[in-house]
Amino acid sequence: MKLVKKQLFPHLKAALLRKAYVSAYWKIPGLLPDIKNPEIIEVELTNDCNMGCLHCHRTLFMKRAVGFMEFETFKKIVDEIAQYPVKFLRICGQGEPSLHPQFREIMAYASGKDIKIEITTNGEIFELFPFEEILRWDIDIIGVSVDGIDGPSYNKIRKGGDYDRLKQNITGFYEFRNRANKKYPMLCVRNVILPSYTPQQIENFNLQWGKSTDQVTHNTFHDIIQKSSTQGYNRCTDIFFYAHFNFDGSIRQCAYGFLYGSHEKIGNIKNDSIRNMWNSQTMRNLRWRHYKKDFPEVCKKCHETSKKHVGHQNSRIYNTSKNGVVKLLNRVINIT
Ligand SMILES: C[S@@+](CC[C@H](N)C(=O)[O-])C[C@H]1O[C@@H](n2cnc3c(N)ncnc32)[C@H](O)[C@@H]1O
Ligand code: SF4
Repeated sequence: MKLVKKQLFPHLKAALLRKAYVSAYWKIPGLLPDIKNPEIIEVELTNDCNMGCLHCHRTLFMKRAVGFMEFETFKKIVDEIAQYPVKFLRICGQGEPSLHPQFREIMAYASGKDIKIEITTNGEIFELFPFEEILRWDIDIIGVSVDGIDGPSYNKIRKGGDYDRLKQNITGFYEFRNRANKKYPMLCVRNVILPSYTPQQIENFNLQWGKSTDQVTHNTFHDIIQKSSTQGYNRCTDIFFYAHFNFDGSIRQCAYGFLYGSHEKIGNIKNDSIRNMWNSQTMRNLRWRHYKKDFPEVCKKCHETSKKHVGHQNSRIYNTSKNGVVKLLNRVINIT
């Protein structure tokens, strides 16, 4: 497996420390110093999108007005995380980031700051910007979402997408990058496993995409549904390390706040610092409640606290077939 070029050792060290910190916190929370800052900072450049994927929470549930992050807001986030010992900027949200009208300027600004950068795209980036220009930006990972298990199911699920065109773009970029003798950005295909897929189908998908990319990964399907309380819940580690900014600069207690709704806002980068907000009383309270296993209702809905899931290759599928559910799940099964 290839590893990202920037800060390899700091990232590995941070991963070990993170594990140690959280296991200690669950034992002796009161004795530990605060986490200074989140390690993964996710930024939603926009919640606008050129597609309407059937499984996507944006298509199904988003009620927010569409907007774009102001360039100044983005700069403020980047300027702060550039000071952190481990800097990981994830460009992703409830929309397609490459549609931002200042995407070019934004990428140029984030480049050259020794920040590990990952972008999740539906492939539109390859339509809007020349391969050569994308290579010049300092991106470590481009994750391209290829949902569906083959061409016909991709075209069904990813409304507005075109499988053949996407394949041409992904393969074309991979070859272009290799011809330029570059290893970065790593090109990864991201696929959400839906319950109807068989292991053989997944294997075929991996074999096929493995030829023209560096990595194929499978994500969990987030069913935005009420789980049964009899399942019990896992404590969440993301509330220590993983922050998400909406395009308007606001940040909630949880990176999935935009997905599951009602997590409290902890501030806005326009008038506060990430470090300050990350150690606010509201964040401390949430961590404490997870320690006590007194989970807020919104956390109980989240896939991160789910205990009941079945293993599937290197990913997970939540077993929601019994108790709660399955409006969204059924909807997806019906279309696959
Ligand atoms: C919301 S999209 C935003 C970025 C970009 N528009 C894209 O499609 O890659 C980010 C990722 O979330 C995934 N996603 C959307 N709905 C999902 C769901 N219900 N469960 C799990 N992943 C989902 C998408 O497949 C995509 O890989
Ligand atoms: S392209 Fe991404 S944001 Fe747009 S509808 Fe599909 S999954 Fe959602």
